[in-house]
Amino acid sequence: MRVPLVAGNWKMFKGVADAVAYAKEFRALAKDLTAVELVIAPPFTAIHGVADALRNSGIATAGQDCYWEKDGAFTGAISAPMLKEAGAALVILGHSERRRVFGDTDADVSRKIHAAYAAGLAPIACIGETLEEREAGRTFEVLDTQLKAALDGLSADQFAQMVIAYEPVWAIGTGRNATPEQAQEAHAHIRGRLRAWLGAEAADKCQILYGGSVKPDNARAILQQPDVDGALVGGASLDPQGFFQIASAAV
Ligand code: PGA
Repeated sequence: MRVPLVAGNWKMFKGVADAVAYAKEFRALAKDLTAVELVIAPPFTAIHGVADALRNSGIATAGQDCYWEKDGAFTGAISAPMLKEAGAALVILGHSERRRVFGDTDADVSRKIHAAYAAGLAPIACIGETLEEREAGRTFEVLDTQLKAALDGLSADQFAQMVIAYEPVWAIGTGRNATPEQAQEAHAHIRGRLRAWLGAEAADKCQILYGGSVKPDNARAILQQPDVDGALVGGASLDPQGFFQIASAAV
C-alpha cells in the first residue's frame, strides 16, 4: 500500500528564526508519527536552517521551486543543486502560483522536473484546473495536458520518485476545498491516466496528494478517499499544531 505523504507549503511566510523554531516544535510533536511521510517546504532562505533542525527526524525539507539551469547569470534564481546542498530532498514544481504569478509554462515545469532529478531531488509536481476550466467542463483535459508535460521524457526509475499534487486552483487559499468526492474523482482520473501511460504497477505506487484549503477539520474526509494519498497544505501548515493534526489525520 501507498504510505501517505503530508507536505506543508509555507509559500512566502516565515523568516529563518520563526522557521527554525517551528521545525523544532513540529519535530517534537510528530516524533511518534511514523506511518506518514512528512515534508516541510519553507522559503529558500530558511531551507538550510529547517533541514538542520529536522536532521535525523525522518521529516524531509523541500524547496518551493527551482530554476532549471544549475548555475549562471540568472539573477534571483535558485538552482536544484543549490536546494540539494542546502538540505532539501524534494522540490515543489508547477505550483499554480508559480504558473499564474511568475508565468511558468508546462515546458518550464518539465525542464525544472528534469533539473530536479539531475540534482537528486524528488519533484512534487502540481497540476490543477481553474474555476473557469472546471465550469467549462475542461477539468480532465487540463489535468491531462499538465500531467503529460510533467511526465515528458521521464524514465521509470525517475517516475517512481515523483509525487503528484492535484490542486484545483479555485480551492487554493480560498477556504473553498474540493469535496471529498470531487477530489476522489480527479485523483481516480489521474491514476487512470498513469495506468494507461505508465502501467498499473507504477500508477498504483504513485502518491497523489490533494491540495487546496486542507484544514484540520476537513482533512480526514478528504484523506479517506481511496486515491488520495496525502495532502499539500498551504495556509494551515503555518501553525505547527494545525499541521500536526492534519498529518495525524493521514495516518
Ligand atoms: P492552501 O494552499 O492550503 O492555503 O489552500 C495549498 C497550496 O497552495 O499548496
